[in-house]
Amino acid sequence: MLSTWMKSQKLRAPAMKNESVFYRNIEEALDVRRADHALYNIKENIWKSSDAVDFCSNDLLSLGASGLLREKFMAELALYPNFTPGAGGSRMMDGNYEYLENLEREIAEFHGAETGLFVGSGFEANLAIFAAIPRPGDVIVYDELVHASSIEGMEKHSLANCRFPFSHNDVESFRDVLLNIWETQTLVKQGVRSVIVAVESIYSMDGDVCPLEELMEAAAEIFPGGQVQFYVDEAHSTGVIGPRGSGFVCELGLEKSIPIRLHTFGKAIASAGAIILCNHTVKAALTNFARSVIYTTAPSFIVAASVRAGYKLLKDGQTEAGQKHIQHLVKHFFKTITADPIWAKASKAGALSCPLAEDWEERAFVTHIVPIWTRPRYTYWLMFHLLLSKFCAYGVEYPTVPKGQSRVRVTFHANNTEAETDGLAQSICSWAREMLDLEEAEAGEDRIPKAARQVYSWMADEAIEVTH
Ligand SMILES: Cc1ncc(COP(=O)(O)O)c(C=O)c1O
Repeated sequence: MLSTWMKSQKLRAPAMKNESVFYRNIEEALDVRRADHALYNIKENIWKSSDAVDFCSNDLLSLGASGLLREKFMAELALYPNFTPGAGGSRMMDGNYEYLENLEREIAEFHGAETGLFVGSGFEANLAIFAAIPRPGDVIVYDELVHASSIEGMEKHSLANCRFPFSHNDVESFRDVLLNIWETQTLVKQGVRSVIVAVESIYSMDGDVCPLEELMEAAAEIFPGGQVQFYVDEAHSTGVIGPRGSGFVCELGLEKSIPIRLHTFGKAIASAGAIILCNHTVKAALTNFARSVIYTTAPSFIVAASVRAGYKLLKDGQTEAGQKHIQHLVKHFFKTITADPIWAKASKAGALSCPLAEDWEERAFVTHIVPIWTRPRYTYWLMFHLLLSKFCAYGVEYPTVPKGQSRVRVTFHANNTEAETDGLAQSICSWAREMLDLEEAEAGEDRIPKAARQVYSWMADEAIEVTH
């Protein structure tokens, strides 16, 4: 995996002087990414093909890795021996089918919603929501860290009059934004236009939880007329938070107060697709105004059946033990890593931090996403150290996170063990020990840690320039 990654970071355009301008220009654009060693590439997953431990995938309940979903899916297929794999058309034309309608009803009921619209992916859902729901003159307010698909939807597809971000999870910043809207957006103030607030239950790169109740209180106080309505993207809470994995909004009992929710099926459900939970008015808007819903083939029976299999597991309570185990492992990780004497020293030196490991006892629940922060230039070194110790947790860099905020993102799963969790914590601590020793070393000494030296020597063999 490291070797594929290294090879992919090697600049290509300089060697293409005599080749087609078409490909050379594309490679030049890609070289900008390569120069930062930030080119995305489709690579082998070593936790799938070797004995490395998965602390990175989105198979949170391990329904995919354990084979449990496959078993339930095969049983589901057996119930419909005459199925046709594909839908045969767009949902609004020839692609609708009874099974999909029943599934939407079942999932909506499970999450306490009036109805739902099953779509091809969470990304597609966010394009649809922002294209169809804000009407001209409406205003969008959003947490600055919402997912790229929401940003894409609101920036490129929305009819909203304007958009205002608020600082991540910051209720005061949210209040300031709403007060500014009260002052400047007369139609909203008069109650003839709405504000749509976009938040996520759990943030994908930070693993922290939205202060949803506080935001709703602030909104009701500043706009008592109900002009402010919330959209909650539950991609990271589906299956792992709330009663039987029904999500964060269900955990808070706010099903009736949130007009739009998104549950995606590519993560804990180990399948694909997504559902937008809403009422019939919102669903009609989505099916009439969202081009990403109208001009695409309806979700296939195969995908729908695998999602139904996943929901059967949730409904039967077969995923509850996994849900609890994730809670246990994350707490165990926090206790173990902070108990190591190097933790306090490395934190004080600014070489390691994990904001979620602080005050976790006061939270109603912990989340499976745990970012580990280090000095930005060390992120790759920590990732190399973990990978060479057979723990797969990847570094996340700009543009996935803001510049200067790179981190190693650890994700816990139902099938991770306590021993693996201990191993991960020990590996992070042994790396921190090495880094502090190197930082204290005499000037002039080689300050590159062992794992990084190993990777850099491989890179030299491949003639790839080291920029980190
Ligand atoms: C918060 C959030 N919303 C939406 C999506 C997109 O979902 P999908 O992978 O189904 O397209 C993701 C995917 O990572 C996500 O993290």
